[in-house]
Amino acid sequence: MVVPSNIFLVGFMGSGKSTVGQQLAAELGKEFFDCDRVLEERTGVDIPYIFDLEGETGFRRREAAVLRELAAKRGIVLSTGGGVVGDPDNRRALATNGFVVYLHAPAELLHQRTSRDRNRPMLYADDPRTRIDELLVVRDPLYREVADLVVETGRRGSRRVVQEIVRTLSDPPR
Ligand code: S3P
Repeated sequence: MVVPSNIFLVGFMGSGKSTVGQQLAAELGKEFFDCDRVLEERTGVDIPYIFDLEGETGFRRREAAVLRELAAKRGIVLSTGGGVVGDPDNRRALATNGFVVYLHAPAELLHQRTSRDRNRPMLYADDPRTRIDELLVVRDPLYREVADLVVETGRRGSRRVVQEIVRTLSDPPR
């Protein structure tokens, strides 16, 4: 089976990128990285704190730098932050350095999965459900633009999602 060297997971907050990424890396014997976790390790603070201090602009600058560094590696599975596709340079870095998988889930499910945690400053809104719709209008076409494969996560468990990705990688559509 010829599996691409790098596999990059993109998708909205709550689509399961980190869980699927870790399991996929273990399955394929690749090293796993998560952009946001690397950023937090480097800065010694969490994502909401970076947003507080430097705003979204500061966060995006740091995110782009970490992405450039991680995309230059080989043999990895990388989970990216949900907003990474907003920057054309980021999209290019993803598309040219690996096989990109978009984990797609319906907006309602994304809302359910993100509603309990307070670690996502992009969803600090009076009406997070509407905010999700607004962000998806912009982002969904960008996830699709950069993706080599779109996987419906729906209510399927992460194991099933990982299986589908591995199956497609080992037997790519012609
Ligand atoms: C963001 C998603 C987050 C994190 C940051 C911004 C976004 O990552 O990068 O809070 O703009 O969608 P997850 O997608 O892993 O939650």
